[in-house]
Amino acid sequence: MTTRAVVIGVGHYLPERVVPNSEFEATLDTTDEWIRTRSGIERRHFAAEGETTSQMAANAARAALADAGIGADRIDTIIVATSTADLTFPSAATMVQAELEMETGFAFDVQAVCAGFIYALANANALIASGQAERVLVIGAETFSRIMDWSDRSTCVLFGDGAGALVLEARPGGGTSDDRGILATDLHSDGRYKDLLYVDGGVSTQSTGHLRMQGNQVFRHAVEKLASTANISLGKANLTSDDVDWIVPHQANIRIIQGTAKKMGLPMDKVVVTVQDHGNTSAASIPLALSVGKQRGQIKEGDLIVTEAIGGGLAWGSVVLRW
Ligand code: UT7
Repeated sequence: MTTRAVVIGVGHYLPERVVPNSEFEATLDTTDEWIRTRSGIERRHFAAEGETTSQMAANAARAALADAGIGADRIDTIIVATSTADLTFPSAATMVQAELEMETGFAFDVQAVCAGFIYALANANALIASGQAERVLVIGAETFSRIMDWSDRSTCVLFGDGAGALVLEARPGGGTSDDRGILATDLHSDGRYKDLLYVDGGVSTQSTGHLRMQGNQVFRHAVEKLASTANISLGKANLTSDDVDWIVPHQANIRIIQGTAKKMGLPMDKVVVTVQDHGNTSAASIPLALSVGKQRGQIKEGDLIVTEAIGGGLAWGSVVLRW
């Protein structure tokens, strides 16, 4: 018997304020047309003043718990993937734990920037497979609006805020790719590329800093590395792209999403796309897309999903799971 980490609930939270591309035309030398055609983004949500990552994470968690039909008392682990936690410490995850009025279990953050949710899923899967956890809340939550340089048109038009969450539960499986749950994971990083995407501040440099990105350089790495990791994960699960029902990619740029699908030999009608509505929400983008994909009726029980992401580090990876 194999223990599988099976998705039993999904949910998301988006802040109320929606900002269309046209709003940037007033302050920057940019156009709605440039942003749409180069990135696929049409609008994004920005957190309200005082609204924090852990609050958004807790809202997404409540939605996922409601979807699973269980209370927070049934959760024994919370993992929050974020690069924009409320405070330097404690972790956003422990704040969510308190917000959900949990008195047991353990909680921690994972920081792998845009690949954070993939890293968090891989950690949750390892905890469940090794018997250290039974039910794990895996959350991706970000307030990237707090680290934007609003005078840098090449970055500030691309990012948004939001949160998404999954509830994973340990369930017995037959050990084949027919099982529901996480079937394979694949993680990579290469710190030699740290200057391509980073925040120029932090605790030990005594500032918050702003996001800096050589977008076209990151772009160059993205399609190749994402298709490669997706194929590695599928191979580990003894599957090929022919078996895939949905690619749920990190939502950074529609051209990266299209290029990766093409390289994997899959049509765009097998891809869940939300970048037009959310922008790049970093670690939140995949759980947001999973939640919206389910709401739209795209993702159904039994579907084979490959999800992949790349971001600052560079860090990248993929997960194959049966919903
Ligand atoms: O989630 C983490 C991973 N991040 C990513 O995956 C992002 C990857 N990169 C991208 O999505 C794309 O590279 C961008 C959307 C950031 C940029 O698209 P691009 O096709 O790579 O454009 P570029 O950076 O090569 O810039 C082309 C031109 C430049 O002008 P010149 O030098 O050709 O005169 C930029 O200055 O577009 C200019 N530009 C803009 N123009 C109008 C850059 N930003 C803007 C803007 N409005 N907002």
